[in-house]
Amino acid sequence: MGDSKEQRILRHMLEHAKEGDPQSVLEAIDDYCSQEFAMIVGDQKGQIMDAVVREYQPSVLLELGAYCGYSAVRMGRLLAPGARLLTIELNPDYAAITQRVLDFAGLQDRVTVLVGASQDIIPQLKKKYDVDTLDMVFLDHWKDRYLPDTILLEEHGLLRKGTVLLADNVICPGTPDFLAHVRGSSRFECTHYPAFLKHRKLVDGLEKAIYMGLGSPAQP
Ligand SMILES: C[S@@+](CC[C@H](N)C(=O)[O-])C[C@H]1O[C@@H](n2cnc3c(N)ncnc32)[C@H](O)[C@@H]1O
Repeated sequence: MGDSKEQRILRHMLEHAKEGDPQSVLEAIDDYCSQEFAMIVGDQKGQIMDAVVREYQPSVLLELGAYCGYSAVRMGRLLAPGARLLTIELNPDYAAITQRVLDFAGLQDRVTVLVGASQDIIPQLKKKYDVDTLDMVFLDHWKDRYLPDTILLEEHGLLRKGTVLLADNVICPGTPDFLAHVRGSSRFECTHYPAFLKHRKLVDGLEKAIYMGLGSPAQP
């Protein structure tokens, strides 16, 4: 078996980053991905994420789509003591790499990798993973899952007034059904953060959708 791109990302990180130093882990992965494209959120959009995490200081954060753990390190490094991040990854090989990246960064106590499909794990979050409600959700998995998983989170009582949804790639590749849903509903207050997809000069953006609760009438 030849090595995969994800194994090359891991190897480059292990060779160039400093153990226990999340910032150096991010820099090493960014450095590798400037040579070979990979589906990480990257530094430009990562800085927008940093600002949102710093502003809302979530105690319980959920990520949908870990890939190699770049965004999990990014958010995990900013969590306050006692706060936790659960990150769901469908692909077991990617999940294993994410775990190694988190261990190397020293974030294994704050970040838990859950292997499986978001639609299977979300319904288990309360009972199996001791989640009451989520303070923040970062959506970065397959784009056709953003809307059904948002509905699933709401149906399972995981959103509370003030829960912050932050969604990547809402313009490119795009999540039109998700955007129409959150922007068209009085249950969400939305803010758009324009950004570029690095190296490809394509316009993209992150959408922040703050859940306002069920008090408002549903929109058609
Ligand atoms: C764009 S990548 C995530 C990048 C990562 N957030 C980062 O910025 O470093 C999308 C990931 O979502 C995973 N994925 C896709 N659908 C999923 C699902 N339904 N549940 C969990 N993970 C999923 C894919 O396997 C892939 O690793």
